[in-house]
Amino acid sequence: MSEEKHIDTVNIDLGERSYPIYIGSGLLQSTDQNSASRLIEHLPGQQVLIVTNETVEPLYLQQISSQLGNRIVETVVLPDGEQHKNMEVLQQVFDSLLGAGFGRDCTVLALGGGVIGDMAGFAAASYQRGVEFLQLPTTLLAQVDSSVGGKTGVNHPMGKNMIGAFHQPAAVFIDIDMLSSLPDNELSAGLAEVIKYGFIRDADFFTWLEQNIEALRSRDPDALVTAIRRSCEIKAEMVAADETEQGVRALLNLGHTFGHAIESAQGYGNWLHGEAVSAGICMALDLSRRHDWLDDADVERGRLLLQRAGLPTAPPADMDEATFLKFMQRDKKVKQGQLRLILLKQIGNAFVSDDFDHGLLSATLNAF
Ligand SMILES: NC(=O)c1ccc[n+]([C@@H]2O[C@H](COP(=O)([O-])OP(=O)(O)OC[C@H]3O[C@@H](n4cnc5c(N)ncnc54)[C@H](O)[C@@H]3O)[C@@H](O)[C@H]2O)c1
Repeated sequence: MSEEKHIDTVNIDLGERSYPIYIGSGLLQSTDQNSASRLIEHLPGQQVLIVTNETVEPLYLQQISSQLGNRIVETVVLPDGEQHKNMEVLQQVFDSLLGAGFGRDCTVLALGGGVIGDMAGFAAASYQRGVEFLQLPTTLLAQVDSSVGGKTGVNHPMGKNMIGAFHQPAAVFIDIDMLSSLPDNELSAGLAEVIKYGFIRDADFFTWLEQNIEALRSRDPDALVTAIRRSCEIKAEMVAADETEQGVRALLNLGHTFGHAIESAQGYGNWLHGEAVSAGICMALDLSRRHDWLDDADVERGRLLLQRAGLPTAPPADMDEATFLKFMQRDKKVKQGQLRLILLKQIGNAFVSDDFDHGLLSATLNAF
């Protein structure tokens, strides 16, 4: 008999598109009959396409496909990396769906990190105008952020995530055991998004992170579950309040306008997304301090926690103000040509600013 495992559930409340996020250890192990049936429970049709990549496939594909009972299962294995998150590679997913003759009642199952989740989700959003979608995130970043909330898409050479759609999954399965194979720098990249939640919404969680950052870096299971659950709760609250990012959801982009500029300018895949977000958060902290919204002590607390998480606290040295501004103007938060940034009043209290001082922004861009 399989041992009963404790599974946490966080719900995303979106009316008839509501869905559960299951979080636990051993959640997706084939010996656990409960979770196997839970996966099947969220598969309405017979046809399943698993989208994964060449790194994750040898690690977890067999484990997942063995739990799909007598479903008709096809797999598409994409090349690994942010540089492959584009329309050309996405075509392979459509080729697989059409080649298998899958209909509108099929389910696309994303097995991988944020790149796979975003691409599989966009394929599910657009194949035959939308099919069912499940997320099985395998990186910390995907577990705390990208698998939740329904943002899907691919990059364009001129800007990150510029082609995409909102398409909510039917469920998210977060098995922390999958993090055991994750390289250290990828774990740190995920911690950038975890720390982000503390900055924008929850000062107590930020303090908890200061006390538990070493436990998280050494992959202590209890610490991981606590951090993932709290991150998903905060994301769930913001997504439920503002599904398509007309307001409060934009706060989740703390550090991302600077970060996307770093990723785009450096070439996709050269800086990890979470690393770029970490440097971007430090720039947002600096700009907030220059406006006297944040004090020096909080800036230093923020910088130190990101550093202890193994993350960069400054952008690459070769990025000048003009390069930043060129890429920042392409940000999706730009409204009527007006750049909007997420800045901080305190740790735990972020806001969207469109009336920041451009002279101070220039000072921040030149200070690093
Ligand atoms: N949709 C959203 O709301 C949202 C939010 C944040 C980030 N994102 C996107 O997510 C992407 C970044 O996601 P990511 O950091 O997961 O990157 P990723 O998907 O590239 O994964 C990172 C690396 O880890 C490998 N990997 C994945 N799982 C593994 C495992 N269990 N063991 C060993 N290796 C594993 C991958 O193959 C890859 O090499 C970016 O494209 C970003 O734009 C989307």
